[in-house]
Amino acid sequence: MGVAESIKGIFQKDIPAKFSVKNPVNQTEYLINGEIRQWKGPQKVIYSPVCFETADGAVPREIGSIPLMDESAALEALEFAVAAYNHGKGEWPCLKVEERLRCLEQFTIRMKERRDEIVNLLMWEIGKTYSDSCKEFDRTVEYILATMNAVREMDHAASKLTIEEGIIGQIRRSPLGVVLCMGPFNYPLNETFTTLIPALIMGNTVVFKPAKHGVLFVRQLLEAFRDSFPAGVVNTVYGEGKQVAGPLMATGKVDVLAFIGTSRVADTLKKQHPSPHRLRCILGLDAKNPGIVLENADLELSVKECLLGALSFNGQRCTAIKIVFVHRSLSDRFLSRFSEEIAKLVPGLPWEENVALTPLPEPGKPEYLTELIRDAVSLGARVVNQCGGTVNQTFFYPAVLYPVNHKMRIYSEEQFGPLIPVVPFDDLETPGKYIVESNFGQQVSIFGSDPGQVAGLVDLLTNQVSRVNLNCQCQRGPDSFPFTGRKDSAEGTLSVTDALRVFSIRSLVAAKSTDQNKNLINTILKERKSNFLSTDFIL
Ligand code: G3H
Repeated sequence: MGVAESIKGIFQKDIPAKFSVKNPVNQTEYLINGEIRQWKGPQKVIYSPVCFETADGAVPREIGSIPLMDESAALEALEFAVAAYNHGKGEWPCLKVEERLRCLEQFTIRMKERRDEIVNLLMWEIGKTYSDSCKEFDRTVEYILATMNAVREMDHAASKLTIEEGIIGQIRRSPLGVVLCMGPFNYPLNETFTTLIPALIMGNTVVFKPAKHGVLFVRQLLEAFRDSFPAGVVNTVYGEGKQVAGPLMATGKVDVLAFIGTSRVADTLKKQHPSPHRLRCILGLDAKNPGIVLENADLELSVKECLLGALSFNGQRCTAIKIVFVHRSLSDRFLSRFSEEIAKLVPGLPWEENVALTPLPEPGKPEYLTELIRDAVSLGARVVNQCGGTVNQTFFYPAVLYPVNHKMRIYSEEQFGPLIPVVPFDDLETPGKYIVESNFGQQVSIFGSDPGQVAGLVDLLTNQVSRVNLNCQCQRGPDSFPFTGRKDSAEGTLSVTDALRVFSIRSLVAAKSTDQNKNLINTILKERKSNFLSTDFIL
């Protein structure tokens, strides 16, 4: 079947029984103070990007609904998180690290039991392919396990006293308070959990507001949260950000904002907090990572990696390559090979074998991408690849735009979708200026083989972005590497170990090394009178 036919018939297929959602998942439950309550107020209907055929054409399929909570319900959840923290005197923040680890272990066992349901709901709600949905789930479990190991190691290092300048000290990391945790729709499980889990394990209590899409799976985990953690430690809030997240921030009772989304929303939320100096923020925000293909680049490798970078999950990754600068001497060959490789990507529904391009979950997204194409074409670009920009309802076939210049919206707007602008360059001033002047500063990919040239770019670009990738696409992983960004792209750094740091603060106990103090400390240690002042070792 040709590309045009595949796009046309994308929704004209039977759903395999294994992946069907027989009845809409009407989620009315939410978790608050260790209790799963029924929401009796209005619901928000969730439509899948996977449409179904009707006599009038394909229409989005209703797959469920979620509570549309209001301000007072959100504030109630916050109050329970505040009470569970109880100014650091609550059960959870005072619990021994070993016991917190046991709770998390219990949660992980329960979460793993829900893999199939969660993977299925991710496919239906955000259109992520089966293999990528599985990867998202498995990577999250691995992240939790790695976090538990890192916590053990951190505790080992802290389970000793040091003596400096006649002062005995013990230094540990302590929780910060109540965390408002909000994840993104493209990785609604993984990225949310890369903040939620470290926040919890460090002893904070949490109000968890799921992303705007990718919400239905959360229901699968409510019992596991309820049974694994003390009451009030995890509370869920659903609804529109303006109605629920804003009022939470305005109370001043949120100590940490963990948010992954746009810088515009992050700024709005931060401004609503009455004591900005008390608010800690860990933010993963906008990005427009460039790929730079130098004249001496390995063309095949550059095409392969730029394709992965630009089109994995339809380009809906904050780390996606969102603009490609290609040396003019290579541009014709690059465009022709790149277009050929796009044509090999299979459009289809998330559960289909070998599928790579799937429908988009954001309402209005194909229209927005079409608008960006129209703007670029009116200013001199053309769509290079066959069928580029073809739309079927929620499906948008990738379009390569060339030659792109600074006057076009696609040059500076983050498209977050399958649109690939390609800019020809003669000298490195063109991509260099772009990066320096950009509002974003997450990552860059350089494709080249000249050591002197690559080294020069590395030295220039490491002061502009937070990760320079050589001859490979931009990405977050491995999760032990720091993930951050400059300018509008991030605040704070995440990695398995960095996340433990950002959700905690160092506290220490210090005493002059006198005989009296030594006796006092020795007795506390021997008789295990304190959780903090302790040399107990987690084995
Ligand atoms: O959306 C941004 C994600 O952090 C990207 O993660 O590079 O592993 O796809 P990834």
